[in-house]
Amino acid sequence: MHKSHRRLQIVRLARLLSLPLMLMSLPAQAAAPSLQVLHWWTSAGERHAANVLAARLADEGITWQDAAIPGGAGLGAGKVLRSRVLAGNAPDATQIIGVSIGEWAELGLLLELDGVATAGNWNKALFPTVRDLVRHRGHVVAAPLGIHRINTLFYNSKLFERLNIAPPATWPDFEKAARQLRAAGVAPLVQSSEPWQVATLFENLLLATGGPEYYRELFVRQSPQAAADPRLAQALQRLRTTKGWMLNPADEQPWTEAVKRFSRGEAAMFVMGDWAKAELNELGQAIDADFSCVPLPGTDNYHLYSVDTLAMFVNDYTHQSAQEKLAKAVMSPLAQQQYSAAKGSVPVRRDANPATMDSCARSSWRGFARGAAAQAPSLVHRMAADEESRDAIIAEVHRFYMDDGVMAAETQRRLASLLRTLNLRSHKQQGSQHATQDTDRR
Ligand code: BGC
Repeated sequence: MHKSHRRLQIVRLARLLSLPLMLMSLPAQAAAPSLQVLHWWTSAGERHAANVLAARLADEGITWQDAAIPGGAGLGAGKVLRSRVLAGNAPDATQIIGVSIGEWAELGLLLELDGVATAGNWNKALFPTVRDLVRHRGHVVAAPLGIHRINTLFYNSKLFERLNIAPPATWPDFEKAARQLRAAGVAPLVQSSEPWQVATLFENLLLATGGPEYYRELFVRQSPQAAADPRLAQALQRLRTTKGWMLNPADEQPWTEAVKRFSRGEAAMFVMGDWAKAELNELGQAIDADFSCVPLPGTDNYHLYSVDTLAMFVNDYTHQSAQEKLAKAVMSPLAQQQYSAAKGSVPVRRDANPATMDSCARSSWRGFARGAAAQAPSLVHRMAADEESRDAIIAEVHRFYMDDGVMAAETQRRLASLLRTLNLRSHKQQGSQHATQDTDRR
């Protein structure tokens, strides 16, 4: 981006945030062979994966300066990032994912990585959905790391074997397994009541009842009519049913605690993105021996995805060369393979070899490779909607979950009116994110 254009963008940002321009001045540091990276990978598995990236960056002679902000699904990291940018102290690289990439790029703050992408032939190397996700207005503005599968049901394989329970593939199977487990005195499901974790279970149930097309209608296109659909009522009812299977449904705990409880056998099943697999590995649990995973019942043919990405802040361009090296390094086949093995995700590269993956990753990679019609963008992980819509929808689902007195029809009415309001707002904003970032509408 030309520097005069960049200045214009800063003036625009200052106006947008109602800040005096002097507050937005950019730090002028000398180029140094180190990059500060802001992210929310603080669990053991996540740290392991960040260390892999740091090692690949070190191969380029660049130090990874870690700025990790705790908080599952990036709640804290998002806030810290916003305040740091406002203070004129943006990190060099940051984990920004999904629709948020477009929001930051629209402000002109992200480094364009077109040179790296062209040299590395990213167009051909990446799955089309990932390729579109890292582009904004025709420019590549983020480097992709790995693809997570959110529709993952973990189950305790030893327990299932001992009780002679088959891993559930359909909703009736799921109900049957829950009944058998309860009869044996085992809690079927571990679940935290943290809003994003409740919404994770819910988006899974919605995909199972409605399929990807209906899922997009509700969460991406945000159609108020879709909120009146009986498929939403059914997903809400199922959320309430599963609440009855949970260990302590009202307990609010980090996802890492829920993983620990599952690993100790306190409950037999757990619905979570496949980063939980990495965490189970770190706890000494082996896939297919101690635990296994299947797609959430009813979503076998679908892939509810979240793609991790690193974006680079332009700042004063002094770190551009190091930032480009980071983007290049994370896309190398070796880094892709090592990172995903540590993180529980699968590579974003189409030339990855599924034969080298564990059973859970292989199923995820093959599912994702089926293409856009089988894919659904995770609302919780910012793949489907902007931050405001995401938060508002999650709050409604959480309210329904916490209060058994709220009927599904009431939540449907509230969601319909929420979507109507969000539609009005997004129509007012010309060139809204929905138009540019809806990668799965094809
Ligand atoms: C990120 C993952 C992370 C998870 C839990 C997701 O939004 O994509 O990388 O492990 O949140 O914090």
